Amino acid sequence: MKLNIVLLPGDGIGPEITKQAVAVLETVAQKFGHELHCTEHLIGGCAIDATGHPLPQDTVDACKAADAVFLGAVGGPKWDNLEVRPEVGLLGIRKALGLFANLRPAKLFPELAGACFLRPDIVQDGIDVMVVRELTGGIYFGEPQGQEVRDGLRTGYNTMVYNEDEVRRIARLAFETAMKRDKRLCSVDKANVLEVSRLWRTVVEEVATEYPEVELSHLYVDNAAMQLVRDPNQFDVIVTGNLFGDILSDEAAVITGSIGMLPSASLSSGGVGLYEPIHGSAPDIAGQDKANPLASILSMAMMLRYSFNLEDEAQVIEDAVQRVLRAGHRTGDIAAAGDSPLGGSKMGQLVVDELSN
Ligand code: NAI
Ligand code: MG
Repeated sequence: MKLNIVLLPGDGIGPEITKQAVAVLETVAQKFGHELHCTEHLIGGCAIDATGHPLPQDTVDACKAADAVFLGAVGGPKWDNLEVRPEVGLLGIRKALGLFANLRPAKLFPELAGACFLRPDIVQDGIDVMVVRELTGGIYFGEPQGQEVRDGLRTGYNTMVYNEDEVRRIARLAFETAMKRDKRLCSVDKANVLEVSRLWRTVVEEVATEYPEVELSHLYVDNAAMQLVRDPNQFDVIVTGNLFGDILSDEAAVITGSIGMLPSASLSSGGVGLYEPIHGSAPDIAGQDKANPLASILSMAMMLRYSFNLEDEAQVIEDAVQRVLRAGHRTGDIAAAGDSPLGGSKMGQLVVDELSN
């Protein structure tokens, strides 16, 4: 298969982790006989430095023409006081590609269970939950929104709106995701209070008839937030709207304990997907070879799975990462007290070596 990929290394640790992730991707492509074609483009602070804008048009054009996009990270103190900040590039590319779904796995490898703050008996086998968040609708974008004076009182308001098409497409994507995993989907809403949630629930039930193999359940968001820390492994895939997903995906990430380990995917309907680690540009450690490349390497696995349907290739990467961890190799962010941590490039090399064996 031909894989046309745009790389957006970005700022801070972005370039160093991208380098490690690409080395892993190249190794897998070679192993499975795929033709890999990568081109690099500018986004964020480095794009501001070179062109005056965080998202140059040729970056947008290249991303639209690609099969998939990998992004390192953007931002840093150097650009914090500009009128147009690097993060504008990130929001811009998400919009340009029509990315309406954000997939954030909360995965804790059992090898790192000791670093998790949940009770050992809950996490001894690790954690593996996928949060699918609707990204372009809901209360962040609903109209009307604003501030005005009502009856002499300053009043602010936003509106949570979803139409059936918006719910249907995120529901379908979540069911498809569940089909690639353990075939259990929990839809999270607030249908006891919100009208918009009652529609959400109805439409999810309708879509469920297309996926008889997937076991569907519903939870109210307050209960879901509680269940996620009480017993995360009762979940396989969670699907929810923009606001609830924002909160639950951060909660899901923090229970696994390590920002340097978590990948993400942002998807559209059949179009280009964008894959990135959830962490930022980490200016405090940039250029020191301290950054953990595993979140980026695991983002490449997600790319192979969700943009190319290459399940075996994705699995091979995840297995290699697990074997490296099992052998006791740790970067600083996941090291226990007393461990001497590896550099990021050494960590990347160990994964490549595992794949080459
Ligand atoms: P951050 O995620 O960059 O860093 C938070 C902490 O985690 C830091 O101590 C950092 O050293 C550590 N860390 C992050 N990634 C790591 C890795 N791979 N290995 C080891 N340690 C790691 O978040 P922060 O400090 O709030 O933001 C720094 C910059 O990144 C800001 O300019 C922010 O706007 C930007 N940012 C960009 C994002 C993106 O590109 N998607 C997301 C979040 C923040
Ligand atoms: Mg958030």
